Amino acid sequence: MIHPIVKYGDPVLETPTKPVEKFDEEFRKLTDDMFESMYAAQGVGLAAPQIGIGLRVTVIDVTTGKNPEARLVCANPQIVHAEGEQHEEEGCLSIPGFRGRVLRPAFVTIRAQNATGEEFEMRSEGLLARAFCHEIDHLDGILFISHLSMLKRDLIKRKIRKLRKAGEW
Ligand code: NI
Repeated sequence: MIHPIVKYGDPVLETPTKPVEKFDEEFRKLTDDMFESMYAAQGVGLAAPQIGIGLRVTVIDVTTGKNPEARLVCANPQIVHAEGEQHEEEGCLSIPGFRGRVLRPAFVTIRAQNATGEEFEMRSEGLLARAFCHEIDHLDGILFISHLSMLKRDLIKRKIRKLRKAGEW
């Protein structure tokens, strides 16, 4: 089932999530729905709060559906190692139409659980490393705009306020 993507302004996006404890059928259905919703929105990552659910799980596929093996369910993820720097443009399905350059580590190793609760560790670089950081931020209630300069962030917030007033957000 495709869920609508929650947009900036909804408090669920800025609230830290609760750990996943049950890896049952219902949980797998949720992750399937998250993939479906992410592909429909043409994103490379989606965190549960973005469909209004305060659970510590994100789905990622940096190939946008081209390689089934690239599909990742990351439940209760944490960054166990990070090094280097990359400074690239980032966007977010919950803040459509706005992008900004965000400083992230170049290499990131995460530890997480998959859809059945099995623990795994994964080393990443480039876009995947950035996706891990962006999505884990979501699970902590942090949006990419909070990494921008205050000037840039305020500009984006002001534009969003205008869009909301016009009923376009
Ligand atoms: Ni995002």
